[in-house]
Amino acid sequence: MEYIGATGAAVNFTSVPISESIDFHFILSFAIDADSSGNPQNGTFSPYWASTLTPNAVKSIKSTHSNVKVLASLSGWSLGQKVLSWYNPHDQNLWISNAFSSLKSLVETYGLDGIDIDYERFPKHNESFSYCIGEVITLLKNHSVISVATIAPFYSTVIPYIELYTRYGDFIDYVNYQFYTDNVKIPETYFEAFRNRTLQFNKNKILP
Ligand SMILES: *[C@@H]1O[C@H](CO)[C@@H](O)[C@H](O)[C@H]1NC(C)=O
Ligand SMILES: *[C@@H]1O[C@H](CO)[C@@H](O)[C@H](O)[C@H]1NC(C)=O
Ligand SMILES: *[C@@H]1O[C@H](CO)[C@@H](O)[C@H](O)[C@H]1NC(C)=O
Ligand SMILES: *[C@@H]1O[C@H](CO)[C@@H](O)[C@H](O)[C@H]1NC(C)=O
Ligand SMILES: *[C@@H]1O[C@H](CO)[C@@H](O)[C@H](O)[C@H]1NC(C)=O
Repeated sequence: MEYIGATGAAVNFTSVPISESIDFHFILSFAIDADSSGNPQNGTFSPYWASTLTPNAVKSIKSTHSNVKVLASLSGWSLGQKVLSWYNPHDQNLWISNAFSSLKSLVETYGLDGIDIDYERFPKHNESFSYCIGEVITLLKNHSVISVATIAPFYSTVIPYIELYTRYGDFIDYVNYQFYTDNVKIPETYFEAFRNRTLQFNKNKILP
């Protein structure tokens, strides 16, 4: 899995070496529920990844590498200077419906295979996250809009992601756990951190 396009630099899929023998996922960074100033849009997601990563570029990399899949990651840390956060939607059903239709449109425009969930900040009360995100993933999968869904917790956000995984884990294919944030110093501790996380998420789904 390779997150790509977050810094705005004119990066291309072709710059990344791809082994033909394993599945390779590019994760477009990021699709954001916000206007260009960072104001929330009630679940309507827009693409903010580097403009070089066009629908044609997706088509081209997929046609030359049959093992490549392309996902859009939701949120990320910031949009420009504005730090992003999950927020409790005023109307959850409206949020879910807007998210479903805007993501369906992005998937169709860019020829994507799935979505990744990378919210990195949460309010104290965040129960709406597991419900809203879980329902959107389920709807997109039930309607065969996407075939892959992944989530990207790290140490300080793990609680809302465990809640999401507990309720909707059947619809989640991989967990991109952000081990680098655990700040471990030696391989043995890294392995221990890995083993710890396999107790919270299915070990066959965790990718460091
Ligand atoms: C990426 O691709 C675009 C369009 O094909 C091209 O204009 C640009 O120079 C490429 N950028 C890099 C960094 O290779
Ligand atoms: C979000 O929904 C609320 C309630 O329906 C509405 O008042 C607000 O204007 C909407 N915001 C945007 C950016 O559409
Ligand atoms: C998706 O399909 C499953 C199994 O058919 C069903 O249990 C679930 O309620 C559906 N969920 C949504 C959000 O459509
Ligand atoms: C999310 O909510 C739970 C339950 O209120 C709380 O324990 C947790 O700290 C919150 N998560 C974050 C990242 O703030
Ligand atoms: C693994 O979990 C144990 C038990 O909760 C804890 O004491 C230990 O610090 C954890 N290790 C790492 C590297 O996260």
